[in-house]
Amino acid sequence: MKNWKVVLLAIVLIVPLYLAFTSLNIGVARANSTDDHESAEHKALESSPDHETLETKVPSGKLAEVRGLKNIVALDAKSLSVAKEIYNGKGTCANCHGEKGRGDGEIASSFSPPPRNFTYAKWQTVRTDGEIFWVITNGTESGMPPFEDMLSDEEKWELVNYIREIGKAGGVASKSN
Ligand code: HEC
Repeated sequence: MKNWKVVLLAIVLIVPLYLAFTSLNIGVARANSTDDHESAEHKALESSPDHETLETKVPSGKLAEVRGLKNIVALDAKSLSVAKEIYNGKGTCANCHGEKGRGDGEIASSFSPPPRNFTYAKWQTVRTDGEIFWVITNGTESGMPPFEDMLSDEEKWELVNYIREIGKAGGVASKSN
C-alpha cells in the first residue's frame, strides 16, 4: 500500500516536470531559429554599400506585425493614376523623392541621408509593403515626414503600389503613363 502511494506521487510530480521541460526545449529551438534568420538578414545588409539606410526604419518590437500587413488596394491602372496624382500633388513626395522617384527632388539636397531612390533594386527587395506603408504613416527620425493625418490608409497603400511600379519600371510608373 505504501509503495503504491510512492509510485503515484512520483507520477504526479514527474509528468508535469517532463512536460514543462519539453515545452521549454521547443521554445529554445524556436528562439534559435529566428536568431539565425535575423543574423543572416543582417549580414546580407552589412555587406551592402549603404547598409545603414537599408536597415529597416520600423522599431524592432513592431517589425513582425508590420511585415505581416497586407496591401488592401489592387494594383491596376486606375489606382496607379490616383497614386501618381497624390505623389506629385498633395502628398508632396516629388519635392523630395523626385518626379521619377530617383531621390533627386528639388529640396533633396537638404537631407542626410538623402530621400530614398525608389529605383534602387536592392532597397525594393529588402522592404516589404508593410514597412513602406509604416514609413509613410510614421515618417523617420532622419527627414521623412509622417503622413498619418494627411493621407487615408487607402491612399497610402496606393502610394506603396506606385513606389513598387517605379521600382519595376526603373523610374517611370509605366501603367499610369
Ligand atoms: C520633406 C522631404 C520628404 C517628403 C515630402 C517625402 N519624403 Fe520620403 N523620405 C525623405 C527622406 C529624407 C527619406 C530618407 C529617410 C531615412 O532614411 O531615414 C525618405 C524615405 C522614404 C522612404 C524609404 C523608407 C525606408 O524604409 O527605407 C519611403 C518609402 C518614402 N520616403 C516615401 C515617401 C512618400 C510616399 C512620400 C509622399 C507621401 C514622401 N516619402 C515624402 C524625405 C521626404
